[in-house]
Amino acid sequence: MARLLIVDDERNIRSNLAAFFQSIGHDAQAAENGRAARAMIEAAPFDLVLTDFRMAEMNGLELLARIKQRHPESLVILMTAYATVENAVGAMKAGAFDYVTKPFSLEQIQHVVERALQLQGLRAENRALRNAIDEAPLLESASSVMVRLMETARQAAASEATVLLSGESGTGKNVLARQIHRWSPRREHAFVVVNCTTLSEELLESELFGHVRGAFTGAIKDKPGRLEAADGGTVFLDEIADLSAPLQTKFLRFVQEQSFERVGGDRTIRVDGRILAASNRDLRSEVAARRFREDLFYRLNVITLPVPPLRERREDILPLAQWMLAAASVRNRRAPMQLAPEAATALKSYDWPGNVRELRNALERAAVLCRSDVIRPDDLPDSVFREVAAAGPAGTAPAASLEQVERAHLMRVLDQSATLDEAAATLGINVTTLWRKRKRYGID
Ligand SMILES: Nc1ncnc2c1ncn2[C@@H]1O[C@H](COP(=O)(O)OP(=O)(O)OP(=O)(O)O)[C@@H](O)[C@H]1O
Ligand SMILES: [Mg+2]
Repeated sequence: MARLLIVDDERNIRSNLAAFFQSIGHDAQAAENGRAARAMIEAAPFDLVLTDFRMAEMNGLELLARIKQRHPESLVILMTAYATVENAVGAMKAGAFDYVTKPFSLEQIQHVVERALQLQGLRAENRALRNAIDEAPLLESASSVMVRLMETARQAAASEATVLLSGESGTGKNVLARQIHRWSPRREHAFVVVNCTTLSEELLESELFGHVRGAFTGAIKDKPGRLEAADGGTVFLDEIADLSAPLQTKFLRFVQEQSFERVGGDRTIRVDGRILAASNRDLRSEVAARRFREDLFYRLNVITLPVPPLRERREDILPLAQWMLAAASVRNRRAPMQLAPEAATALKSYDWPGNVRELRNALERAAVLCRSDVIRPDDLPDSVFREVAAAGPAGTAPAASLEQVERAHLMRVLDQSATLDEAAATLGINVTTLWRKRKRYGID
């Protein structure tokens, strides 16, 4: 049963259609003009709206635009007695699912409506599937540390508090930030990600805050900043430690007052954006080293969510791996794949310096390379496979510290890779992280 709305200023047509669709089991309602229809749509969305094209006051196209704006999921079918190519093309461009020309038989219209509803069902199913795939592993962690963290994240999401996500590269800070936005009352509004590393200072400033015409060479017109797009929504400042000193200052003001001026402009712009920030560097030591403003740090650090590295929540490795394998099979259109017991052991004992990202890369690779439906240890990257072989049977005490292992592993991968990019890809970390690690361990 679907919720249908029939809009036509001809009484006979709308009541016959409504009666017909009710008789075949739908919840069909009727409206006599665009205005009445609009009020009903505002009250509650319909699965499908069947509307006349020519009506006084608000025509079918205007109604269509209104529906698409309020409830993009609703399907709209236009009925027109004046079938012209322009009408049809205009309607389809504006997002109509289909159009029918009057007069039509009940059988014809039933066919068009059922087809539309089937497609809509399919789309909803796909969406549900995608959402399930997006969220399941995050929400169902078996690690008590993670469960507590998610609990705090949920509570934080409901508030307006600024949240700082910390943790090594690849632990899932971006994933969690997006989840917090989805859990928050701001979920219907934009989630704007600003990566503080990728842009030069000048570009980042104008990207964030916008600029006015003539602010600098090449500023040929006024341009709003991305922060403005976050009005009502969430701003996620990724890799915040990389924010330059002047931008830290400008940002501090935004965090405090929710206002700023465009570059070169003097009009103050107010934006209601909730702030999330992430860093894989320890901001406290950045503050101690005077590289990060203390006042900004305290403003951001209202709630801290330290996302633990994968090796500190080993109980998550196999569930995550299984889920990623399932997702990879679907993506590569393969039969569902399984992990051989030895492969599972290898995954569980490896240290995952690149965290969830490295795990994901390892499984994607295995899913592509594997020739049967079972992933064996030698389908896994050498690093995983060899580390385990070298460590001996699972359960024996490791002879080296984590840092020693990480250092040795980095050196080996760097040795075997032609470029830094290649090494970073094998490790499942980004090049910036690789740079930092190389520096930390004194590898050149
Ligand atoms: N719980 C999870 N479930 C499924 N996939 C995850 C999960 N956590 C992380 N991932 C995947 O791991 C990869 C890395 O996650 P993400 O980008 O969120 O890490 P990060 O902590 O932001 O890393 P960086 O510090 O390098 O930016 C992504 O491909 C993401 O999809
Ligand atoms: Mg990230």
